[in-house]
Amino acid sequence: MSLQKSTILVTGGAGYIGSHAVLALLQAGYEVIILDNLVYGHRDLVETVLQVELIEGDIENRPLLDQIFNSHKIEAVMHFSAYTYVGESVTNPDKYYRNNVLGTLTLLEAMLDAGIKKFVFSSTCATYGIPQFIPLTEDHPQNPISPYGMTKLMVEQILADFDIAYGLKSVCFRYFNAAGANPNGLLGEDHNPESHLIPLVLQTALGQREYISVFGTDYPTPDGTCIRDYIHVSDLADAHVLGLEYLLQGGNSEVFNLGNGNGFSVNEVITAAQEVTGINIPVKQCDRRPGDSPILIGSSDKAKNILNWQPKYPGIQEIVAHAWQWHQKRHK
Ligand SMILES: NC(=O)c1ccc[n+]([C@@H]2O[C@H](COP(=O)([O-])OP(=O)(O)OC[C@H]3O[C@@H](n4cnc5c(N)ncnc54)[C@H](O)[C@@H]3O)[C@@H](O)[C@H]2O)c1
Repeated sequence: MSLQKSTILVTGGAGYIGSHAVLALLQAGYEVIILDNLVYGHRDLVETVLQVELIEGDIENRPLLDQIFNSHKIEAVMHFSAYTYVGESVTNPDKYYRNNVLGTLTLLEAMLDAGIKKFVFSSTCATYGIPQFIPLTEDHPQNPISPYGMTKLMVEQILADFDIAYGLKSVCFRYFNAAGANPNGLLGEDHNPESHLIPLVLQTALGQREYISVFGTDYPTPDGTCIRDYIHVSDLADAHVLGLEYLLQGGNSEVFNLGNGNGFSVNEVITAAQEVTGINIPVKQCDRRPGDSPILIGSSDKAKNILNWQPKYPGIQEIVAHAWQWHQKRHK
């Protein structure tokens, strides 16, 4: 007897993490529909690699959401779509509260009206703010220092209240720094503008940038540069399938960190990139940026214990090597 797998709506599925999650869902046998307004997403990757239905539209478009939920039997929603630039959220918070909070609220209301009560949400370690202890666990106080982080915290709060009031069950994943690319080179990171360290370093290796800026070399860390927790995007994607299955099996709402548990300094990332590419990467030492914590490392023990999740690619060399394979193909 073959078991019919559920259909999952993936918002933001044409973006970086969402596209990797779609691939993992397809490999696990799920049917997938993507809703993405393509402001930052990539139609070509959906059409050539993922080959699933792409509905080009906005999560704030309530009639479109109703039409999607009425015409498909959707079991659960994975919600990746959001604006993600921390700096822009400081200068233009309206844009962030509207898309990330009001957009999500519109989506949740449409889901509830359609009787869909399972939701997987992309939250962030930025909801913690300045760390009071390391590694950060899920019970660390949440005091975001940017409007971006605040939008994610607000949605977490909405989800907690919607569970109590309406029985909506959610898994919130607080990612640390998503990095790397699909190991087969099919998908990868292509943000424009780019703000993440590894792609910026690799663009420098490709000669598309003059140098990589290192913000702060006098932090209280072994080499003076900031330490971050880089989690491979395919490991994130696997966690999403496990989180979905946890909900489909009747699990209660939960919040999980998704990180590597190992921190790597900016200098260590640049060294790894030089080793992987064989290219000398020019570096410019700059002043510290306000708001940057010296060290951000998360504990993902809860996801390991409850979801049985285990990162497959915890090493920085492998993360950078997969990203390099992708960047050479995509950006040369
Ligand atoms: N990249 C990271 O390191 C990181 C870390 C923590 C959390 N997150 C969260 O993970 C999620 C995915 O991040 P990403 O790096 O893949 O970003 P991304 O920009 O690559 O993907 C987001 C996608 O959402 C789409 N989108 C945005 N607003 C939309 C709207 N109103 N309607 C429909 N589609 C819309 C964009 O076109 C894009 O394809 C985001 O919610 C982000 O906040 C990312």
